[in-house]
Amino acid sequence: MRVLSGIQPSGNLHLGNYFAMMKRMIDYQESNDLFCFIVNYHALTTVSDPNVLRQKTLDAAMDFLALGLDPNKSHFWVQSDLPEVHELTWLLSIVTSMGLLERSHAYKDKTAKGITATHGLFAYPVLMAADILICGANKVPVGKDQKQHVEIARDIAMRFNSSFGETFVMPEADIEDDIATIPGIDGQKMSKSYGNAIEIFADEKSLRQRVMSIKTDSTPVEEPKPIKDNPLFEIYSLFLDDKGKQQLKERFETPGLRYGDVKKELFGVIWEYFTPYREKREQYSKDKAYVYDVLKMGAEKTRKVAQEYVTKARNNVGLNY
Ligand code: TYM
Repeated sequence: MRVLSGIQPSGNLHLGNYFAMMKRMIDYQESNDLFCFIVNYHALTTVSDPNVLRQKTLDAAMDFLALGLDPNKSHFWVQSDLPEVHELTWLLSIVTSMGLLERSHAYKDKTAKGITATHGLFAYPVLMAADILICGANKVPVGKDQKQHVEIARDIAMRFNSSFGETFVMPEADIEDDIATIPGIDGQKMSKSYGNAIEIFADEKSLRQRVMSIKTDSTPVEEPKPIKDNPLFEIYSLFLDDKGKQQLKERFETPGLRYGDVKKELFGVIWEYFTPYREKREQYSKDKAYVYDVLKMGAEKTRKVAQEYVTKARNNVGLNY
Protein backbone atom coordinates (compact mmCIF):
# COMPACT_ATOMS: atom_id res chain seq x y z
CA MET A 1 0.00 0.00 0.00
CA ARG A 2 1.33 3.45 -0.91
CA VAL A 3 0.64 5.90 1.91
CA LEU A 4 1.30 9.61 1.32
CA SER A 5 0.82 12.84 3.23
CA GLY A 6 2.34 16.30 3.50
CA ILE A 7 2.56 19.14 5.98
CA GLN A 8 2.94 22.89 5.47
CA PRO A 9 5.97 24.56 7.08
CA SER A 10 3.86 27.60 7.85
CA GLY A 11 4.36 27.54 11.63
CA ASN A 12 5.49 25.29 14.45
CA LEU A 13 3.94 21.84 14.43
CA HIS A 14 1.27 21.13 17.02
CA LEU A 15 -0.72 18.33 18.65
CA GLY A 16 -3.34 18.42 15.85
CA ASN A 17 -0.65 17.81 13.23
CA TYR A 18 1.04 15.19 15.37
CA PHE A 19 -1.91 12.97 16.27
CA ALA A 20 -3.92 13.30 13.04
CA MET A 21 -1.03 12.96 10.62
CA MET A 22 2.61 12.73 11.82
CA LYS A 23 2.23 9.93 14.36
CA ARG A 24 0.01 7.91 12.04
CA MET A 25 2.48 8.30 9.16
CA ILE A 26 5.34 7.16 11.38
CA ASP A 27 3.31 4.10 12.44
CA TYR A 28 2.50 3.32 8.80
CA GLN A 29 6.17 3.25 7.76
CA GLU A 30 6.63 -0.22 9.27
CA SER A 31 4.44 -2.07 6.80
CA ASN A 32 3.75 0.30 3.91
CA ASP A 33 5.47 2.19 1.16
CA LEU A 34 5.53 5.62 2.81
CA PHE A 35 5.73 9.04 1.11
CA CYS A 36 6.05 11.95 3.51
CA PHE A 37 6.97 15.49 2.53
CA ILE A 38 7.10 19.12 3.57
CA VAL A 39 4.96 21.25 1.29
CA ASN A 40 6.84 24.53 1.03
CA TYR A 41 5.29 25.47 -2.35
CA HIS A 42 1.89 25.33 -0.66
CA ALA A 43 3.15 27.32 2.32
CA LEU A 44 4.08 30.16 -0.05
CA THR A 45 0.36 30.95 -0.30
CA THR A 46 0.48 32.26 3.28
CA VAL A 47 4.14 32.74 4.28
CA SER A 48 5.71 35.82 2.72
CA ASP A 49 9.03 36.04 4.60
CA PRO A 50 11.71 33.92 2.81
CA ASN A 51 13.75 33.48 6.01
CA VAL A 52 10.74 32.23 7.91
CA LEU A 53 9.94 29.75 5.12
CA ARG A 54 13.54 28.43 5.11
CA GLN A 55 13.61 28.09 8.88
CA LYS A 56 10.20 26.42 9.20
CA THR A 57 10.99 23.98 6.40
CA LEU A 58 14.13 22.80 8.15
CA ASP A 59 12.32 22.76 11.51
CA ALA A 60 9.54 20.56 10.13
CA ALA A 61 12.15 18.14 8.73
CA MET A 62 13.95 17.93 12.07
CA ASP A 63 10.62 17.47 13.88
CA PHE A 64 9.69 14.52 11.68
CA LEU A 65 13.09 12.84 12.05
CA ALA A 66 13.11 13.37 15.81
CA LEU A 67 9.63 11.89 16.12
CA GLY A 68 10.81 8.71 14.44
CA LEU A 69 10.35 9.03 10.69
CA ASP A 70 12.98 6.71 9.22
CA PRO A 71 14.29 8.07 5.90
CA ASN A 72 15.57 4.60 4.97
CA LYS A 73 12.15 3.01 5.36
CA SER A 74 10.30 5.84 3.63
CA HIS A 75 10.41 8.54 0.97
CA PHE A 76 10.98 11.81 2.84
CA TRP A 77 11.56 15.04 0.95
CA VAL A 78 10.81 18.73 0.56
CA GLN A 79 8.22 19.50 -2.12
CA SER A 80 10.37 22.13 -3.89
CA ASP A 81 13.16 19.57 -4.44
CA LEU A 82 10.77 17.85 -6.86
CA PRO A 83 9.66 20.66 -9.21
CA GLU A 84 8.31 18.01 -11.62
CA VAL A 85 5.12 18.33 -9.59
CA HIS A 86 4.39 21.58 -11.43
CA GLU A 87 4.35 19.93 -14.81
CA LEU A 88 1.75 17.54 -13.50
CA THR A 89 -0.17 20.43 -11.92
CA TRP A 90 -0.51 21.97 -15.38
CA LEU A 91 -1.63 18.73 -16.99
CA LEU A 92 -4.23 18.28 -14.25
CA SER A 93 -5.37 21.90 -14.61
CA ILE A 94 -6.57 21.07 -18.10
CA VAL A 95 -9.29 18.80 -16.71
CA THR A 96 -10.08 20.81 -13.55
CA SER A 97 -13.23 22.88 -13.80
CA MET A 98 -13.44 26.31 -12.18
CA GLY A 99 -16.60 25.15 -10.42
CA LEU A 100 -14.73 22.36 -8.64
CA LEU A 101 -12.21 24.82 -7.21
CA GLU A 102 -14.85 27.43 -6.41
CA ARG A 103 -16.45 24.90 -4.04
CA SER A 104 -13.23 24.55 -1.98
CA HIS A 105 -13.96 25.29 1.70
CA ALA A 106 -10.31 26.07 2.42
CA TYR A 107 -10.25 28.76 -0.29
CA LYS A 108 -13.50 30.29 0.92
CA ASP A 109 -12.35 30.24 4.57
CA LYS A 110 -8.95 31.75 3.82
CA THR A 111 -10.30 34.57 1.65
CA ALA A 112 -13.03 35.25 4.24
CA LYS A 113 -10.23 35.72 6.79
CA GLY A 114 -8.68 38.39 4.62
CA ILE A 115 -5.98 36.40 2.78
CA THR A 116 -5.73 37.84 -0.74
CA ALA A 117 -7.54 35.72 -3.32
CA THR A 118 -4.52 34.94 -5.51
CA HIS A 119 -4.38 32.40 -8.31
CA GLY A 120 -1.99 30.36 -6.13
CA LEU A 121 -4.53 30.12 -3.35
CA PHE A 122 -7.28 29.22 -5.83
CA ALA A 123 -5.15 26.57 -7.56
CA TYR A 124 -3.89 25.12 -4.23
CA PRO A 125 -6.02 21.94 -4.55
CA VAL A 126 -4.63 21.21 -8.04
CA LEU A 127 -1.05 21.27 -6.74
CA MET A 128 -2.17 19.05 -3.88
CA ALA A 129 -3.79 16.65 -6.36
CA ALA A 130 -0.49 16.56 -8.28
CA ASP A 131 1.38 15.81 -5.01
CA ILE A 132 -0.83 12.80 -4.43
CA LEU A 133 -1.14 11.50 -8.00
CA ILE A 134 2.55 11.91 -8.86
CA CYS A 135 3.41 9.17 -6.37
CA GLY A 136 0.50 6.85 -7.15
CA ALA A 137 -0.73 7.05 -3.55
CA ASN A 138 -3.57 4.77 -2.44
CA LYS A 139 -4.06 6.16 1.04
CA VAL A 140 -3.74 9.73 2.34
CA PRO A 141 -3.76 10.06 6.17
CA VAL A 142 -5.08 13.53 7.05
CA GLY A 143 -7.31 15.41 9.47
CA LYS A 144 -10.89 16.21 8.50
CA ASP A 145 -9.98 19.70 7.22
CA GLN A 146 -8.17 18.05 4.28
CA LYS A 147 -10.96 15.63 3.34
CA GLN A 148 -12.36 17.85 0.59
CA HIS A 149 -8.89 18.37 -0.89
CA VAL A 150 -8.42 14.62 -1.24
CA GLU A 151 -11.88 14.34 -2.80
CA ILE A 152 -10.92 17.03 -5.30
CA ALA A 153 -7.78 15.00 -6.12
CA ARG A 154 -9.97 11.94 -6.77
CA ASP A 155 -12.29 13.97 -8.94
CA ILE A 156 -9.38 15.32 -10.98
CA ALA A 157 -7.83 11.83 -11.33
CA MET A 158 -11.13 10.43 -12.50
CA ARG A 159 -11.61 13.16 -15.11
CA PHE A 160 -8.04 12.75 -16.36
CA ASN A 161 -8.36 8.98 -16.61
CA SER A 162 -11.64 9.21 -18.49
CA SER A 163 -10.32 11.88 -20.89
CA PHE A 164 -6.88 10.43 -21.60
CA GLY A 165 -6.99 6.78 -20.56
CA GLU A 166 -6.05 5.03 -17.32
CA THR A 167 -3.14 7.06 -15.89
CA PHE A 168 -3.56 7.62 -12.15
CA VAL A 169 -4.33 5.55 -9.07
CA MET A 170 -7.48 6.63 -7.17
CA PRO A 171 -6.39 7.93 -3.77
CA GLU A 172 -8.50 7.74 -0.65
CA ALA A 173 -8.47 9.99 2.43
CA ASP A 174 -7.65 8.10 5.60
CA ILE A 175 -9.24 9.89 8.56
CA GLU A 176 -9.56 8.56 12.09
CA ASP A 177 -12.93 9.59 13.51
CA ASP A 178 -11.82 10.23 17.10
CA ILE A 179 -9.10 12.64 16.09
CA ALA A 180 -10.51 14.05 12.85
CA THR A 181 -10.62 17.56 14.33
CA ILE A 182 -8.44 18.13 17.37
CA PRO A 183 -9.46 21.21 19.37
CA GLY A 184 -7.09 23.98 20.38
CA ILE A 185 -6.97 25.63 23.79
CA ASP A 186 -10.07 27.71 22.94
CA GLY A 187 -12.13 24.73 21.77
CA GLN A 188 -11.94 25.72 18.06
CA LYS A 189 -9.97 23.51 15.64
CA MET A 190 -6.29 23.64 16.63
CA SER A 191 -4.48 25.60 13.95
CA LYS A 192 -1.08 27.18 13.36
CA SER A 193 -2.86 30.37 12.38
CA TYR A 194 -5.52 30.72 15.11
CA GLY A 195 -3.13 31.29 18.04
CA ASN A 196 -4.74 28.34 19.86
CA ALA A 197 -2.17 25.62 19.25
CA ILE A 198 -0.18 23.52 21.69
CA GLU A 199 3.16 23.11 19.94
CA ILE A 200 4.83 19.73 20.32
CA PHE A 201 8.30 21.18 20.90
CA ALA A 202 7.36 24.28 22.92
CA ASP A 203 9.75 25.09 25.79
CA GLU A 204 8.66 24.16 29.30
CA LYS A 205 7.40 27.58 30.30
CA SER A 206 5.34 28.19 27.16
CA LEU A 207 3.94 24.68 27.22
CA ARG A 208 2.84 25.07 30.85
CA GLN A 209 1.31 28.43 30.08
CA ARG A 210 -0.55 27.04 27.06
CA VAL A 211 -1.94 24.05 28.92
CA MET A 212 -3.02 26.19 31.89
CA SER A 213 -4.94 28.43 29.43
CA ILE A 214 -7.09 25.63 28.02
CA LYS A 215 -10.63 26.99 28.10
CA THR A 216 -12.87 25.38 30.71
CA ASP A 217 -16.50 25.91 31.65
CA SER A 218 -17.70 27.24 34.97
CA THR A 219 -19.29 24.05 36.31
CA PRO A 220 -18.94 24.23 40.12
CA VAL A 221 -16.29 21.89 41.63
CA GLU A 222 -18.91 19.81 43.42
CA GLU A 223 -20.73 18.97 40.18
CA PRO A 224 -19.83 16.40 37.45
CA LYS A 225 -17.93 17.92 34.53
CA PRO A 226 -19.02 17.61 30.90
CA ILE A 227 -16.78 15.64 28.57
CA LYS A 228 -18.48 16.68 25.33
CA ASP A 229 -17.00 19.79 23.71
CA ASN A 230 -14.56 20.02 26.60
CA PRO A 231 -11.10 20.71 25.09
CA LEU A 232 -9.35 19.70 28.32
CA PHE A 233 -10.92 16.24 28.17
CA GLU A 234 -10.33 15.91 24.44
CA ILE A 235 -6.69 17.00 24.51
CA TYR A 236 -5.89 14.80 27.52
CA SER A 237 -7.56 11.82 25.80
CA LEU A 238 -5.05 12.01 22.94
CA PHE A 239 -2.42 10.65 25.31
CA LEU A 240 -4.52 7.79 26.69
CA ASP A 241 -5.49 4.31 25.57
CA ASP A 242 -9.12 3.14 25.79
CA LYS A 243 -8.80 2.14 29.44
CA GLY A 244 -7.17 5.45 30.34
CA LYS A 245 -9.89 7.37 28.50
CA GLN A 246 -12.59 5.51 30.41
CA GLN A 247 -10.86 6.32 33.70
CA LEU A 248 -10.55 10.00 32.74
CA LYS A 249 -14.25 10.04 31.83
CA GLU A 250 -15.11 8.63 35.26
CA ARG A 251 -12.95 11.26 36.95
CA PHE A 252 -14.74 14.03 35.04
CA GLU A 253 -18.09 12.57 36.01
CA THR A 254 -17.20 12.36 39.68
CA PRO A 255 -17.99 15.54 41.66
CA GLY A 256 -14.98 17.29 43.20
CA LEU A 257 -12.66 17.37 40.18
CA ARG A 258 -10.71 20.61 39.85
CA TYR A 259 -9.86 21.66 36.32
CA GLY A 260 -6.67 23.38 37.54
CA ASP A 261 -5.34 20.07 38.95
CA VAL A 262 -6.11 18.26 35.68
CA LYS A 263 -4.30 20.93 33.71
CA LYS A 264 -1.16 20.63 35.86
CA GLU A 265 -1.26 16.87 35.42
CA LEU A 266 -1.79 17.19 31.64
CA PHE A 267 1.19 19.53 31.35
CA GLY A 268 3.35 16.79 32.97
CA VAL A 269 1.94 14.14 30.63
CA ILE A 270 2.65 16.16 27.47
CA TRP A 271 6.10 17.24 28.64
CA GLU A 272 7.11 13.69 29.46
CA TYR A 273 5.61 12.21 26.28
CA PHE A 274 7.75 14.43 24.07
CA THR A 275 10.93 14.39 26.22
CA PRO A 276 12.76 11.61 24.33
CA TYR A 277 11.81 13.22 21.01
CA ARG A 278 12.91 16.64 22.27
CA GLU A 279 16.33 15.19 23.05
CA LYS A 280 16.63 13.72 19.56
CA ARG A 281 15.43 17.00 18.08
CA GLU A 282 18.30 18.72 19.90
CA GLN A 283 20.80 16.32 18.30
CA TYR A 284 19.45 16.95 14.79
CA SER A 285 19.65 20.69 15.31
CA LYS A 286 23.39 20.23 15.89
CA ASP A 287 23.82 18.18 12.72
CA LYS A 288 21.95 20.07 10.02
CA ALA A 289 24.29 18.72 7.32
CA TYR A 290 22.85 15.28 7.98
CA VAL A 291 19.30 16.62 7.69
CA TYR A 292 20.06 18.30 4.34
CA ASP A 293 21.61 15.06 3.05
CA VAL A 294 18.59 13.03 4.09
CA LEU A 295 16.24 15.43 2.28
CA LYS A 296 18.35 15.43 -0.86
CA MET A 297 18.47 11.66 -0.91
CA GLY A 298 14.70 11.54 -0.29
CA ALA A 299 13.96 13.76 -3.28
CA GLU A 300 16.14 11.58 -5.55
CA LYS A 301 14.37 8.45 -4.37
CA THR A 302 10.93 10.00 -4.92
CA ARG A 303 11.91 11.38 -8.34
CA LYS A 304 12.12 7.82 -9.73
CA VAL A 305 8.46 7.22 -8.87
CA ALA A 306 7.34 10.73 -9.87
CA GLN A 307 8.96 10.52 -13.30
CA GLU A 308 7.03 7.37 -14.08
CA TYR A 309 3.69 9.13 -13.55
CA VAL A 310 4.71 12.38 -15.24
CA THR A 311 5.96 10.52 -18.32
CA LYS A 312 2.78 8.46 -18.50
CA ALA A 313 0.64 11.62 -18.23
CA ARG A 314 2.76 13.49 -20.83
CA ASN A 315 2.44 10.61 -23.26
CA ASN A 316 -1.27 10.11 -22.69
CA VAL A 317 -2.09 13.76 -23.46
CA GLY A 318 0.16 13.68 -26.55
CA LEU A 319 3.12 15.79 -25.52
CA ASN A 320 5.44 13.08 -26.87
CA TYR A 321 5.31 14.33 -30.45
P1 TYM B 1 -1.50 21.21 7.16
O1 TYM B 1 -0.07 21.59 7.08
O2 TYM B 1 -2.49 22.29 7.47
O3 TYM B 1 -1.70 20.11 8.28
C1 TYM B 1 -0.98 18.89 8.29
C2 TYM B 1 -1.89 17.76 8.74
O4 TYM B 1 -2.39 18.01 10.06
C3 TYM B 1 -3.80 17.88 10.05
N1 TYM B 1 -4.36 18.81 11.05
C4 TYM B 1 -5.31 18.46 11.94
N2 TYM B 1 -5.95 17.32 12.13
C5 TYM B 1 -6.88 17.28 13.14
N3 TYM B 1 -7.13 18.35 13.94
C6 TYM B 1 -6.50 19.52 13.77
N4 TYM B 1 -6.74 20.55 14.55
C7 TYM B 1 -5.54 19.62 12.72
N5 TYM B 1 -4.73 20.62 12.26
C8 TYM B 1 -4.03 20.10 11.24
C9 TYM B 1 -4.25 18.26 8.65
O5 TYM B 1 -5.52 17.75 8.35
C10 TYM B 1 -3.14 17.64 7.84
O6 TYM B 1 -3.39 16.28 7.59
N6 TYM B 1 -3.02 20.87 2.38
C11 TYM B 1 -2.29 20.17 3.43
C12 TYM B 1 -0.87 19.82 3.05
C13 TYM B 1 -0.72 19.02 1.80
C14 TYM B 1 -1.03 17.63 1.64
C15 TYM B 1 -0.65 17.31 0.30
C16 TYM B 1 -1.58 16.67 2.48
C17 TYM B 1 -0.21 19.44 0.61
N7 TYM B 1 -0.14 18.42 -0.29
C18 TYM B 1 -0.82 16.00 -0.19
C19 TYM B 1 -1.76 15.38 1.97
C20 TYM B 1 -1.39 15.06 0.66
C21 TYM B 1 -2.23 21.08 4.66
O7 TYM B 1 -2.33 22.28 4.56
O8 TYM B 1 -1.95 20.44 5.85
